[in-house]
Amino acid sequence: MRVLVGGGTGFVGTALTQLLKARGHEVTLVSRKPGPGRITWEELTSSGLPPCDAAVNLAGENILNPLRRWNEAFQKEVLNSRLTTTQILTQAITKAQQPPQAWVLVTGVAYYQPSLTAEYDEDSPGGNFDFFSNLVTKWEAAARLPGNATRQVVVRSGVVLGRGGGAISHMLLPFRLGLGGPIGSGQQFFPWIHIGDLAGILTLALEANHVQGVLNGVAPASTTTNAEFAQSLGAVLGRPAFIPLPSPVVQAVFGKDRAIMLLEGQKVVPRRTLASGYKYSFPELRAALQEIVA
Ligand SMILES: NC(=O)c1ccc[n+]([C@@H]2O[C@H](COP(=O)([O-])OP(=O)(O)OC[C@H]3O[C@@H](n4cnc5c(N)ncnc54)[C@H](OP(=O)(O)O)[C@@H]3O)[C@@H](O)[C@H]2O)c1
Repeated sequence: MRVLVGGGTGFVGTALTQLLKARGHEVTLVSRKPGPGRITWEELTSSGLPPCDAAVNLAGENILNPLRRWNEAFQKEVLNSRLTTTQILTQAITKAQQPPQAWVLVTGVAYYQPSLTAEYDEDSPGGNFDFFSNLVTKWEAAARLPGNATRQVVVRSGVVLGRGGGAISHMLLPFRLGLGGPIGSGQQFFPWIHIGDLAGILTLALEANHVQGVLNGVAPASTTTNAEFAQSLGAVLGRPAFIPLPSPVVQAVFGKDRAIMLLEGQKVVPRRTLASGYKYSFPELRAALQEIVA
């Protein structure tokens, strides 16, 4: 297959590109910067969809960049970087003479309302209670195609754990120094997925004709709390992990509304993902963390 990957230069895109190429597919990236093996968003807008059999969008401004203040301008960038790129791909697919077989979007589990008790699968309600859930609703709506010439899949991802990027890259140093611990109360759920499994689920979504609709991109055992996550990370590093990161510190760094992403969480189960036949390489947290810190 020839696969077009929007935002494919990033953390998830690098892992997905590697896996797709290993499976014999050709990959073209869509990026803000031109380069070999890439087209830009401007080229996609002006020239239309290049010949391809499937497309996926991973583009989006990093929400948890601690160097950016959570003000209106940054919120707009977070929103527009996702909506505009998704709209450009949706329009290009709609106008294509030869529409691709599959169109896959990665969004997030922020669609579901944080709770200490509720359990969410792909059919659970959500998407309408705060900035992030509304963002996911608009983002998924921007990907909707008229008609059904192209199979559509949305993967709502949890926190992606992998080497060389993502949330864990900010945690490793304090944890290695024995200064790690739970964030806030630690009671909040921490829905996670190993990057190899997210790439695997995306590849299945691109390749398999029977996969359609929303899939939760979380590990089957991702009903972990933040405190359990901290304990496991400490254990695989052989370091104590008892020093909590107090909520007011998190709120001071990230802003109160954005800090919700770290201080609250959702218990998410991948019911449809398992029913799709996907076999996880890292269903358990310990093994996932061991692979990452090895
Ligand atoms: N990582 C996670 O834990 C996680 C969890 C849930 C959902 N997701 C979602 O999964 C997708 C991929 O995540 P990731 O961790 O791979 O993301 P990432 O590495 O932070 O970014 C992916 C790509 O997005 C493009 N991008 C960044 N800012 C942009 C902007 N302002 N406008 C247009 N494009 C921009 C960049 O490509 P160029 O520089 O080449 O343009 C970048 O390589 C994102 O949409 C993210 O929201 C990630």
